[in-house]
Amino acid sequence: MSKLKITETSLRDGHQSLIATRLTTDEILPILKEMDNAGFYSMEVWGGATFDTCLRYLNEDPWERLRKIRANVKNTKLQMLSRGQNILGYKNYPDDIVEKFLKNAIFEGIDIVRVFDALNDIRNLKKSIEVIKKEGAHCQCAISYTTSPVHTTEYYIKLIRDFENSGADSICIKDMSGILLPYDAFNLVKAIKEVTTLPLEFHTHCTSGVAQMSMLKAIEAGIDIVDTAISPLSSGTSQPATESLALSLIGTEKDPQLNLDSLNNTAEYFKDIIKKYQDNGTYNIKVLMTEPKTLQYQIPGGMLSNLIFQMKSLNASDKYESVLAEVPKVREDLGYPPLVTPMSQMVGAQAVFNIISGGRYKIIPTEIKNYVKGMYGTPASPISEEIRKKIIGDDEVITVRPADLLNDEYDKLKAEIGDLAVSEQDVLSYALFPQVAKEYFEKRSNSITYENLYA
Ligand code: CO
Repeated sequence: MSKLKITETSLRDGHQSLIATRLTTDEILPILKEMDNAGFYSMEVWGGATFDTCLRYLNEDPWERLRKIRANVKNTKLQMLSRGQNILGYKNYPDDIVEKFLKNAIFEGIDIVRVFDALNDIRNLKKSIEVIKKEGAHCQCAISYTTSPVHTTEYYIKLIRDFENSGADSICIKDMSGILLPYDAFNLVKAIKEVTTLPLEFHTHCTSGVAQMSMLKAIEAGIDIVDTAISPLSSGTSQPATESLALSLIGTEKDPQLNLDSLNNTAEYFKDIIKKYQDNGTYNIKVLMTEPKTLQYQIPGGMLSNLIFQMKSLNASDKYESVLAEVPKVREDLGYPPLVTPMSQMVGAQAVFNIISGGRYKIIPTEIKNYVKGMYGTPASPISEEIRKKIIGDDEVITVRPADLLNDEYDKLKAEIGDLAVSEQDVLSYALFPQVAKEYFEKRSNSITYENLYA
């Protein structure tokens, strides 16, 4: 037994979960030296929605943010989250974009890359794993945790073996919906620790009210690393609070031995910052409300609120309960995909159509058709002949890795964006978020001219 390690998520998942990823680089920089002294194993600071939000809402270059964070964090490993072949976007990118993106991220200071695939299809992680290892960073492979008749302990153990064989340096149980119950967490961690010596990390969300209990059971079962967020950016739809866990473990062999003064100073700092987001309405009290229905319906909290909103806008709020009952049926039809982006939106939309269009699969979104054609990867359980016919008729299902069908794109995109991009990193921003990045570049070039004129 050795001390528990802590991954601090405030600067990525923490603010992504509570305040729509709105922390600016200027708000992040002043507290980094303090956080760097706290004794965290790593700080998750990049990836997920941070990249998009920088360009789209904050008029910031996400690469510049990473450089500035790295310059201020000397002792602690920096970590990012990547969706494998989707990188930070919502579709599969060709291999050359995946390669250049990860290469640049690691060059700018990322030490640990956590990669996952929404369908747990290892083929969608292969390229990322290869590049991360080649660039000398730590490759953490995450399982997208979900529950279903096919998501058994054996299923996860097989996945762990595949990760290990593919070169993973550590494993993460990524419970993005906060549905891993305490005793299931205990059993899953025990089972995984029996088959691998790789470090094991637990990532969860407090959404349904069980995260702290599950985290403690995971610790009792021998988890090596857990994800927490500093108190003002914790709880609700975010991670458990860093200080509370650190204080709970004092005097035990698992004590993470964090610097409590650093934690308190960091918390005080963010309390002030958060106040601005409370006042302007970005920090909505709804994100702090425990949603145990997530456990009952096996539907993530964010998806529940989306469905309420959709049914209201369709003037069909009376059919909300029918849609909730339809979601698990659609999920079963589709081979039990984990309800994580983009599957949660896709399954939700199909369930709504099945209920309001007067028949199941009378209206089918293109994304669902592409999914059934295998364009997202292979689901955990095969889709029945009957459902497949209903959704794509006689269209073919691909059996190769989806990205094998994509041609390299970098040179084409570089030519397309032209002089607006002044670096390889700009071209990569453009590859991921074409419209948003272009607008950002245009604003940037205008402001440079303006400054030059009046300098
Ligand atoms: Co998360």
